[in-house]
Amino acid sequence: MGVFEEVAIEGHEQILFGYDPVSDLKTIIAIHSTALGPALGGTRFFPYKSEEAALNDVLRLSKGMTYKAAAAGLDLGGGKAVIIGDPRQDKSERLFRAYGRVVDSLQGRYITAEDVGTTTTDMDMVRRETKWALGNSVALGGSGDPSPVTARGLVAAARAVAQKVWGDSELAGRRFAIQGVGKVGSAFAQQLAEARAELIVCDAYESAVQAAVENYGAKPVEPDEIHQVDCDFFSPCALGGILNEDTIPELNCQAIVGSANNQLATDHDAGRLGERGILYAPDFVVNAGGLINVYDELHGYSRTRALYRVDAIFDATLEILNTAEELGINPNEAAIEVADRRIDQIGSLRKFRRDGDDRN
Ligand SMILES: NC(=O)c1ccc[n+]([C@@H]2O[C@H](COP(=O)([O-])OP(=O)(O)OC[C@H]3O[C@@H](n4cnc5c(N)ncnc54)[C@H](O)[C@@H]3O)[C@@H](O)[C@H]2O)c1
Repeated sequence: MGVFEEVAIEGHEQILFGYDPVSDLKTIIAIHSTALGPALGGTRFFPYKSEEAALNDVLRLSKGMTYKAAAAGLDLGGGKAVIIGDPRQDKSERLFRAYGRVVDSLQGRYITAEDVGTTTTDMDMVRRETKWALGNSVALGGSGDPSPVTARGLVAAARAVAQKVWGDSELAGRRFAIQGVGKVGSAFAQQLAEARAELIVCDAYESAVQAAVENYGAKPVEPDEIHQVDCDFFSPCALGGILNEDTIPELNCQAIVGSANNQLATDHDAGRLGERGILYAPDFVVNAGGLINVYDELHGYSRTRALYRVDAIFDATLEILNTAEELGINPNEAAIEVADRRIDQIGSLRKFRRDGDDRN
């Protein structure tokens, strides 16, 4: 499929290709929607096998950001950027500064932040060329690593699910099976341990598992067994696509709340979960804490305000679960419905012209 056909289907507003021959920067920025505000989304630095693969990824991810921001009730649209390259070898000051100038050329229509393969230090470098780079170091007034805040949003979502399923938001004594105890998963384990929940964990790295066992009293299981664990919550905090036609019949949980993006392998899998009576809290709703945190930098970062907004993931999750029940649809469809409704209603607000403003 050609680029224009692809854009026509998903309704992207703009795609920008940036190249710097000296640093070999190859970047694609996709703005999916600015209906609710500037398009915010991270920069993924990844050794894509082809330019087509990079383009497909940025188109898919930028659309996802539109829905994540809309469902979280933020005044933000959706966008994303990719840089084609190996993050372990191809990073340089020149590359990030060249990238910063490409971002700056969009004058705030797109705002970037860190993502897979980029760090707060990288964003500090981009920031030297544009004010439209967030996720900066704490020392520079930024919000730093978003992972503990993302984990806090997961706790809020799990409480909302507990409220819906058991009529009580208390998490003490609830069993969580966490797949992946990396940056988000380990912070989630810590906060759940503080809430006196029971933890079962796995990770591809033994040291990560050991840390969760020693620090939070978690029980370890093998990575290929985690989704089968008898538990209240299964929490995918590693990779996408974990909820699929092979794993769903093997699940032994009541509900799913996790940070991983794109947990459902296909849209049909939301229906499969429903048929098994497993309540799925949509990933893009429950993992919005990192986005909410970075968004706060736009207003001069206040951790108190950011956490206050992240805790509202409790209400956002409940609203979606209630909407699903009312409309007889699955929670994933309900989340899209809630986001679409907001984009429609707020994005179509009447415009009042002033000062000879002749823009459309
Ligand atoms: N960091 C954030 O604030 C944030 C925000 C929103 C979404 N997410 C998403 O949450 C997920 C986790 O993010 P992170 O920042 O913690 O990444 P991370 O790389 O720090 O952690 C992922 C962990 O999963 C482990 N892992 C990988 N494959 C595994 C497997 N097959 N079985 C078990 N463990 C496996 C890795 O060893 C690693 O420890 C990602 O999908 C990410 O896109 C993160």
